[in-house]
Amino acid sequence: MPSIKAAIIGFGTVGEGVYKIVNEKRQQLKQHTGYSIEIASILVRDVNTKRAVAPSVLVTDSIDDILNDPEIDIIFEAIVDEEPAYTYLSQAIEKGIHIITANKKMFAKHGPALLKHAEFRDVQVGFEATTAGGIPIIRTIENLLAGDRVHRVQGILNGTSNFILTAMRDEGVTFEEALHHAQKKGFAEADPTDDISGSDAFYKLMVVSSLAFDEQPEWEEVSVVGIDHIQTDDVLEASKAELRYRHVAEIRIDDEGKLSGKVGPVLLDAEHPFYAIDGVDNAIIVETDYLGKLTLIGPGAGMYPTGSAMVADLVHIIRQLKPVPVLS
Ligand code: NDP
Ligand code: HSE
Repeated sequence: MPSIKAAIIGFGTVGEGVYKIVNEKRQQLKQHTGYSIEIASILVRDVNTKRAVAPSVLVTDSIDDILNDPEIDIIFEAIVDEEPAYTYLSQAIEKGIHIITANKKMFAKHGPALLKHAEFRDVQVGFEATTAGGIPIIRTIENLLAGDRVHRVQGILNGTSNFILTAMRDEGVTFEEALHHAQKKGFAEADPTDDISGSDAFYKLMVVSSLAFDEQPEWEEVSVVGIDHIQTDDVLEASKAELRYRHVAEIRIDDEGKLSGKVGPVLLDAEHPFYAIDGVDNAIIVETDYLGKLTLIGPGAGMYPTGSAMVADLVHIIRQLKPVPVLS
């Protein structure tokens, strides 16, 4: 059976999730793709940390070990921040290596350039995991765009914020306690500032904007507010009035083609579909000309949900590589 060799850049919550799923679902992946998938190497910062990986896997702190390995077909990228991720992925594309990323901070800014570069080099890019964890929002919008037009997307896009708001309401814990819990579960970013300030949801919204509208609004024109000023008393007070705080990101295009976006907490009543979205779940409403409103709900962060989105990208990419029958 032919094989595909992959590398994982970053072995934290997400990278480890990808590694586990690829190994746990080896047979299923073979059946679905016709290939045996092997994780050949992993890039980390600290090679001395003990990792639960097979002895045959190269664990390295040098990207050159991966980029100069002519057998690597695909790279999963799950490190933090724009750099060095953007540089590594650009180099990978240049070498004809397919890429799959979960790094929304990098992809919001550099996604359009990476996609253009990849098209030129005839390689594939998967970015399902950048937005809304395990929810297949990227593939869904891609499918809709085949014969429809998206005019508005509204979503709870940060799992950590929703987890904190839910824990403050249900358990009466403080903001800090709830955030600490989200960090322990691997939902929050290494530096959780982006989660609680609204930036993480903003980056995801920009990824969606590029995909749905082929452009992004001017970043300075999007109002971005986080949940860091909301305290347990505020949440409990709202709850008494049968209202819930939700952190919502929204992008829309008007009839003149002007984009507008905003990110911030809102108080919702039980009529709203986001009212019942609790814990780390995300939810997204996509509005289109023909379909109308579509709502997707599911885990927005965490090892397995995010890993599953990256592995779904892997299967999609491998299928794209197979010759497609020509219809006459
Ligand atoms: P973690 O902090 O858990 O892990 C990051 C990993 O990347 C670590 O293994 C670290 O190495 C490695 N790393 C970081 N910087 C470098 C570098 N410059 N060179 C080599 N290795 C590096 O992060 P997560 O797994 O939580 O997140 C990874 C990415 O996925 C982020 O971009 C995040 O936004 C995104 N994401 C996260 C989700 C989640 O639920 N956590 C969900 C969706 C996307 P070492 O172990 O040696 O420190
Ligand atoms: N920190 C992010 C969140 C991870 O809480 O939503 C998923 O992108």
